[in-house]
Amino acid sequence: MGATLPTFTAVEDSLLLTLYCRALDNRLPKPVLSDTTADEIVRKLDYDFEQLKVNKNFILNVALRAKKLDEVASGFIRHHPDAVGLDLGAGLDTRMVRIAAPATVDWYDVDYPAVVAARERLIPDCVNAHNIGADVTDPDWLNTVPSDRPAVIVADGLMGFLAKEDFMSLLNRLIDHFPSGEMAFNSYTSFAIWASRHVPGTSSVAGLLKFPGVDDPRELEHWNPKLKLIREILLTREPEVAEYPTAVRLYNRLMATSTTLSRKGTIVLHYRF
Ligand SMILES: C[S@@+](CC[C@H](N)C(=O)[O-])C[C@H]1O[C@@H](n2cnc3c(N)ncnc32)[C@H](O)[C@@H]1O
Repeated sequence: MGATLPTFTAVEDSLLLTLYCRALDNRLPKPVLSDTTADEIVRKLDYDFEQLKVNKNFILNVALRAKKLDEVASGFIRHHPDAVGLDLGAGLDTRMVRIAAPATVDWYDVDYPAVVAARERLIPDCVNAHNIGADVTDPDWLNTVPSDRPAVIVADGLMGFLAKEDFMSLLNRLIDHFPSGEMAFNSYTSFAIWASRHVPGTSSVAGLLKFPGVDDPRELEHWNPKLKLIREILLTREPEVAEYPTAVRLYNRLMATSTTLSRKGTIVLHYRF
């Protein structure tokens, strides 16, 4: 008998989609992310994952965007071993395990209380990893996070669920809270939001998306003068695509010929502040 999940809201349920994609990536002959913990959690859960009907391109996109966010977090921690790490809308993701952050780093996984309760049941404790059960748009949860250390903040799959003004306020609160840091998240253009509402692979989240999309990554620099774009990571142009199965690789290669086309797919935006 597998572990049962609490009754999640529809937004909380979205974590199962990304968790399942990382587990399926792990079962590929050449995984992008090799997230064995995600695979273990999926095998443990009493849940019909097959009804999610994810396609290969989506699985690889989810795995690759997680890998790019891992690289941002690891790179920052390498230069700031005293850093604070935050994963916003962490779901059942175990980024802290994948990046093997040293004991000098304090890592905070933030998600709704029901999700955090499930994390506490399913994910083994780790001394310097902390769960915060809160709505990220609530200003109070940040009070429990140290404010005197550099921070690396990642959000994987969160942005689409936030209204633009809530996302802007969240970014501004984070920038005000820490002396300096970096943040990275997968972003959506207005076309990508439209597509997520209409393609079958993301039909389970289609009605939940609130974010209108950002078509120019530099737009965020106007939200807060401290925020500076480090890199717009177009997944179609990342080296991992060379190892994709033929049909998905050719599709990504075609999209990679144009920035406009690449922005229709998955983008990771990386900023400093
Ligand atoms: C698509 S899932 C991604 C989960 C995880 N980052 C991953 O990659 O597997 C989106 C997550 O964001 C969380 N979320 C959405 N809106 C949130 C909010 N306002 N406050 C806290 N968590 C939120 C959901 O509960 C869910 O766990």
